[in-house]
Amino acid sequence: MKTAIVTGAAGLIGSESVRFLSERGFRVIGIDNDMRRYFFGDGASTRWMADKLTATLPEFHNENFDIRDIDALSKLFAEHSSDIELVLHTAAQPSHDWAAREPLTDFTVNANGTLNLLEVTRRHCPDAVFIFTSTNKVYGDRPNTLPLVELEQRWEIAEDHPYYERGIDESMSIDSTLHSIFGASKVAADVMVQEYGRYFGMKTGVFRGGCLTGPAHSGAELHGFLAWLMQCAIDGTRYRIYGYRGKQVRDNIHSFDLVNALYHFYQAPRPGEVYNLGGGRDNSASLIECIKMAEDMTGKKLETTYTDKNRIGDHICYISDLAKLKSHYPDWSITKSLPQICEEIVAAQDGKATTA
Ligand SMILES: NC(=O)c1ccc[n+]([C@@H]2O[C@H](COP(=O)([O-])OP(=O)(O)OC[C@H]3O[C@@H](n4cnc5c(N)ncnc54)[C@H](O)[C@@H]3O)[C@@H](O)[C@H]2O)c1
Repeated sequence: MKTAIVTGAAGLIGSESVRFLSERGFRVIGIDNDMRRYFFGDGASTRWMADKLTATLPEFHNENFDIRDIDALSKLFAEHSSDIELVLHTAAQPSHDWAAREPLTDFTVNANGTLNLLEVTRRHCPDAVFIFTSTNKVYGDRPNTLPLVELEQRWEIAEDHPYYERGIDESMSIDSTLHSIFGASKVAADVMVQEYGRYFGMKTGVFRGGCLTGPAHSGAELHGFLAWLMQCAIDGTRYRIYGYRGKQVRDNIHSFDLVNALYHFYQAPRPGEVYNLGGGRDNSASLIECIKMAEDMTGKKLETTYTDKNRIGDHICYISDLAKLKSHYPDWSITKSLPQICEEIVAAQDGKATTA
């Protein structure tokens, strides 16, 4: 039976991938040890999702081990070897801010964990497609050096700049910039995934995410800003804004649209290729604009605290240029608008509140 390995299977992107691939006839083996709980506390645990997927999908099971455990990975990959058609690697320490607390943990999970997975794929199923969810933080704070204009509600790229219309493309340098500890560990993984495509000729692909979001995110202040903001609006928790007068802009993509793009790559892989992937200009919004949307949707005022100090290296305005992805995969497009995404998150949070 065609088999997919999904790391981080209980996380936002992993769980969407598990459902998506199961619906398309894959047997899916997840690898997720609920390390999100270690990173962000009990409220961010993804164990509930692993249990839910196991209970509802007959061809899915989750392996509860760490991607840093090369022996466990080798055993699993040897067991399924040539059945494995796809390795979708989404497990990570995903937070910019958390990484500085434990750089060793961050690097060994993000960089060494990725190398482990590449290597067991090369040894046991070299023909499989290997997809890695990287991040726009690999560009470090270079996007902040673009000519930016402060508008009433948001920061914007200057209209006469080539990036204004479609956003930032993959030609932006990842060198000589402040990456943050997290950005650096993701750069290491990102480059290694490209290299296994170029050097070893494996079918690897790198997707540099903007803000990936959706109703399945286990909200945490340090990761997943939109889900966290909506959660705060619903339960009355105070939301903290860090710098840039709350006008920092993010482009938001629903986990379904993201996984659908990865699936297009799987069907026609281009070894070693890199894509920027977020919601693009249409799904971009500033924090202030998102707060307004949250208040309109929940009918509640969101209490906020503003601190002048921005998060180190935080982007002021980041919008992904989707043109390269669309030119390689013309059948793919964004299907969920930002208001739709927010409505789904609110509905999911409300559901949790009423069943709690
Ligand atoms: N969410 C975003 O806004 C965003 C933006 C850009 C890039 N990304 C990248 O996309 C990927 C998926 O992000 P997400 O939002 O789904 O994250 P998530 O935290 O929701 O899911 C990651 C999952 O990986 C698991 N995990 C972590 N370390 C592990 C380890 N050592 N061994 C096994 N399992 C482990 C966690 O328990 C969690 O369930 C990550 O690589 C992240 O860096 C996310």
